[in-house]
Amino acid sequence: MMTVTDATAGVTSRYRVAGGWRESDDTRTLPVISPVDESTIGGVHEYTRDEIDEVFVAAHRAQPRWAARPLTERSELLHRFADRLAENADAIGDVLMMEVAKAGKDARDEVVRSADYVRHTAEDAKRIIGDTQFSDSFPGQARNKLAVVHRVPLGTVLAIPPFNYPVNLAVSKIAPALVTGNTVVLKPPSQGALSALLMCELAYDVGVPPEVLQVVTGRGSRIGDYLVQHPGVDLITFTGSSGTGADLARKAGMVPLLLELGGKDPAIVLADADLDAAASDIVSGAFSYSGQRCTAVKRVLVVDTVADELVARIAERTAKLSVGDPRENATITPLVDPEAATGAERMVNEAVAAGAVLVHGGTRTGRLLQPTVVDHVTEAMELAWVEPFAPVLPVLRIRSAAEAVRIGNRSEYGLQAAVFTRDIDMAIQIAARLDVGTVQVNGRTARGPDHFPFLGTKASGMGTQGVRPSIEAMTRVKSLVVNLRAPDLGASA
Ligand code: NAP
Ligand code: G3H
Repeated sequence: MMTVTDATAGVTSRYRVAGGWRESDDTRTLPVISPVDESTIGGVHEYTRDEIDEVFVAAHRAQPRWAARPLTERSELLHRFADRLAENADAIGDVLMMEVAKAGKDARDEVVRSADYVRHTAEDAKRIIGDTQFSDSFPGQARNKLAVVHRVPLGTVLAIPPFNYPVNLAVSKIAPALVTGNTVVLKPPSQGALSALLMCELAYDVGVPPEVLQVVTGRGSRIGDYLVQHPGVDLITFTGSSGTGADLARKAGMVPLLLELGGKDPAIVLADADLDAAASDIVSGAFSYSGQRCTAVKRVLVVDTVADELVARIAERTAKLSVGDPRENATITPLVDPEAATGAERMVNEAVAAGAVLVHGGTRTGRLLQPTVVDHVTEAMELAWVEPFAPVLPVLRIRSAAEAVRIGNRSEYGLQAAVFTRDIDMAIQIAARLDVGTVQVNGRTARGPDHFPFLGTKASGMGTQGVRPSIEAMTRVKSLVVNLRAPDLGASA
């Protein structure tokens, strides 16, 4: 049986620059350690500045030729790439599982979901149509100019995904960029780089030229600044923490940015909600993949008259979550960032010391934090505001919908919110007041389906992703104005 290290062997010692293979020496190979069992499952090369320069030169040289290929050809290549991804869902999923400690089934689903995303993008790009306008629609203008408005690629896109969806959040950047005629430089997360490299090899297998899609590995803290300030970058599409995103935005200068960042999504539960359904959505929303999702439910705001009942139902469901090994499909697995585990534990302890009530969990063994529910959290506690990126769910009790809106908005983040109520009019009024990208009514916060627009306000991001919005973000409008010298034949008729 093939092991994860067998699967990654081909991409660990060798690396590509401008399409050609090179050998990495030990001093520039970063080991990839599995958070599951601390074993070394591979290694990736840390690119030098000179190599990064070579990558961008090759990307720019290849771009006009890539953009000149018929759209149907680029779309067809993406379809073939999607097929290869789906065929290899088990192989890539197994590497992903060990690299980021994601339940095996979820890791394989991520690859399949990514194939679906690529197919949808390959089709949707064909439906992008332009616009034409005659000049006489503006006051004082004769009908003597015709603008033909279409979209063109930006050039070379720098794509930086995070560790929690290293395949899906890579393809959701790569596919819209490639299909519209851009070349891509992908800087995968250090934890997740092996899956990304394997995935890109599949793209090359089906005929995507290696200069058109290039991968640059290395620690973000070491090579990130050089990448984001590189003159060869025409757009940066980044998903990750708000801190890194804000830092990147300050450094990038006048380069268009697409930023998907952190969140502290509230689940607002009103007195008339179906409490069982709400508890089910809240628990799966808060704890799937150990809470390491930007869209995880990261706080509950529940009206106090039903709070005891809701918390009891949440606790009952939380107690049933499987904890441990992603190879056994556990929901709660060792966290990728050990500091997220200790940081979350500290916040929970501080909240309890300040009067909050520990309802479930609260204990930690190494990277593994038990799913934790903390009731009676107040606005004075850090747990109410900080994104732990860990399986921790604070519950704040509120008196009214208006208070839910106030506390919901009193956050640096604005990714999503969920409202649970049978009163649809009230849900709409609450949604109208919440300063977030998306409000889910009677459902958990989530990005998918992946063609829906996905965005955050405030520290949660800049720009919109999805399928159509990403295609638009990775292209710009170009106008061709034809000045009509011939007289308007209608005027003399
Ligand atoms: P992160 O530490 O910000 O890293 C994200 C990516 O940026 C990684 O590829 C990382 O590389 C790279 N990076 C690090 N420092 C950099 C720098 N100075 N310049 C350029 N790139 C740099 O985030 P994470 O821990 O991977 O992901 C968790 C965070 O992402 C959470 O806050 C979560 O909410 C957010 N997130 C948001 C969304 C969304 O769509 N809104 C989706 C998923 C995750 P290395 O791995 O090499 O450090
Ligand atoms: O972590 C951020 C992802 O974009 C969330 O995607 O809601 O489908 O888990 P998801």
